[in-house]
Amino acid sequence: MTGRYAEDYQRSIKDPNGYWADAAKDIVWTKPYDKVLDDAKPPFYRWFAGGLVNTCYNALDRHVDEGRADQIALIYDSPVTDTKAKYSYRDLRDAVALFAGVLAELGVAKGDRVIIYMPMVPEAAIAMLACARIGAVHSVVFGGFAANELATRINDAKPKVIVSASCGIEVAKVIPYKHLLDGAIDMATHKPSHCVILQRPMEKAEMVSGRDVDWAEAVKSAKPADCVPVAATDPLYILYTSGTTGQPKGVVRDNGGHMVALKKSMKTVYDIDPGEVFWAASDVGWVVGHSYIVYAPLLHGCTTILYEGKPVGTPDAGAFWRVISEYKVKAMFTAPTAFRAIKRDDPNAEFLKNYDLSCFKTLFLAGERCDPDTLKWAEDHLKVPVIDHWWQTETGWAICANPMGLERFQVKPGSPTKAVPGWDVQVLDEAHHQAKPGQVGALVMKLPLPPGSLPTLWNADQRYIQSYLEEFPGFYKTGDAGFIDEDGYVYVMSRTDDIINVAGHRLSTGGMEEVLASHPDVAECAVIGVADQLKGQLPLGFVVLKAGASKPHNEIVKELVALVRDRIGPVAAFKTATVVKRLPKTRSGKILRGTMQKIADRQDYKMPATIDDPAILGEIDEALTEVGYAHGRKG
Ligand code: COA
Ligand code: AMP
Repeated sequence: MTGRYAEDYQRSIKDPNGYWADAAKDIVWTKPYDKVLDDAKPPFYRWFAGGLVNTCYNALDRHVDEGRADQIALIYDSPVTDTKAKYSYRDLRDAVALFAGVLAELGVAKGDRVIIYMPMVPEAAIAMLACARIGAVHSVVFGGFAANELATRINDAKPKVIVSASCGIEVAKVIPYKHLLDGAIDMATHKPSHCVILQRPMEKAEMVSGRDVDWAEAVKSAKPADCVPVAATDPLYILYTSGTTGQPKGVVRDNGGHMVALKKSMKTVYDIDPGEVFWAASDVGWVVGHSYIVYAPLLHGCTTILYEGKPVGTPDAGAFWRVISEYKVKAMFTAPTAFRAIKRDDPNAEFLKNYDLSCFKTLFLAGERCDPDTLKWAEDHLKVPVIDHWWQTETGWAICANPMGLERFQVKPGSPTKAVPGWDVQVLDEAHHQAKPGQVGALVMKLPLPPGSLPTLWNADQRYIQSYLEEFPGFYKTGDAGFIDEDGYVYVMSRTDDIINVAGHRLSTGGMEEVLASHPDVAECAVIGVADQLKGQLPLGFVVLKAGASKPHNEIVKELVALVRDRIGPVAAFKTATVVKRLPKTRSGKILRGTMQKIADRQDYKMPATIDDPAILGEIDEALTEVGYAHGRKG
């Protein structure tokens, strides 16, 4: 691969208008845009202002019109239901147009919101694309969230319609969805006019008369709906992600910039050409699922795979190899935790011997820090480049990667390589000065951010500024800390806030603390993320009980675990809490979560100079030992 990176990168930073105007030629515009970058109202930047466009048209109809009608657009592979299905571009366009007709019939129009709370079934992608087709704004909520989390999102997005299913399937467990949905609607102050329910054969949902509509019945009588042109700057979707409180942030994605950036990334980052097979083993509830199961591969005319299963246990640690060989996947994308699960179950990769993986060219990993052991294991066994890349729900696509379609840099384990063209990544120290190579600081990006990144938070411009733009004026704060080495390789080391990453799922410990604090016996609490061999991190709670709390501690802990599962969801994987007499604090009353986490992870720690009572750290150490975390080391 010849080195095109430096030239491409420099152009993207020095001439963003020219760079992105060239990329925009790959999109079909209903009306051309007036401006590439509209910077009239900083810090709010808009891309392709004045343009009219339709995302669904670009993802489906244009390919049907341009000769891909019979090419497979989407493969559904569900080992948990023993189902496989293939949709050509024509099939998928027709199914989407029909469901768009259902939504239109229920009164959904341009700008209205639709919440999608579904498992990994093709109908989830069909519902997303149907919203895009009629200019409605979808908000997908991950199935592993509890009713309370869904209710929060209903109140914020105010959907006219919610699309859901009777159940999801977790390995062999059927997870009924309908009571969660009904519970969320009961809790929410906003009520949708209708719910469309996909009845799956494993579980039949009770319907609420007058409100609930059966998906299969509705499509029988629906009229296909046409694509509705929307402004390039209009929202395509809202995706809620963990913030520093229990109130999630509604990340907004626009239509025009999103398409331009994602389509370009398919070649630049993933080295994928139209017609090839790309697989992101994630969930449509996460940004990876939005960008790389649904939108990017379809915008690029590829075949995408929607996999309803796990890396292990459905049925075994060879599941990924089976899918890759069966559908001739050229590149796949998943989280390192999935590979840690495979490595744990099949350390010598014996299952690989059963499959022909000659089609497979690259493995991409993201969502959490990729530990060098996992990277090496994957490289050794797969014998293809293993590319760690770094991004966030907010950015929508990779900030840093080894840009496989541009230039292949030597991999440095622990680094997601270099800034992708479009992203001006810098490290700032506490005084807001640019850090020296190798010096750890806040990872930030100079404004304006490239197309595809969030223009704002849903109905919360001030929170957008406060969360991302205020601390480092002129820059976007990622919330990650790290450094850049002499060769321009970026290293992402840790979060600077309370976000933890559990099996590639982003969660807020602050949100969990709010739940623990709501227990009647809890006076004070702290939740930290402790290192876990499989999931990367796991939450661990410390609670101080109110005077007079009389229940046995183990009973209270059980209630706390159940409370987090009930309020946030099983995805939080909150399974351990311990009762302590006091929490370590600074003299000004700030809980020393960082020190507690170091003790739990057996890292060296320095006695904080501002600590109120050093003896408490000994108590914390003892409490940790009781719940299986051995003694920390005081440095
Ligand atoms: N609906 C309902 N429940 C769900 C769910 C969903 N969509 N997804 C997960 N859950 C539940 C699980 O059943 C589990 O419940 P349990 O406590 O009753 O066992 C809990 O949430 C935690 O799930 P998970 O984090 O997936 O852990 P796991 O032990 O079931 O599986 C891995 C571990 C590593 C195999 C799994 O996390 C995985 O495949 N991760 C890939 C990461 C990924 O896709 N990340 C997305 C970003 S790329
Ligand atoms: P999410 O918004 O769920 O995609 O989570 C984004 C966060 O996950 C980032 O801010 C990082 O903290 C972490 N993350 C994602 N990818 C990587 C990576 N390749 N290396 C290190 N951390 C990562």
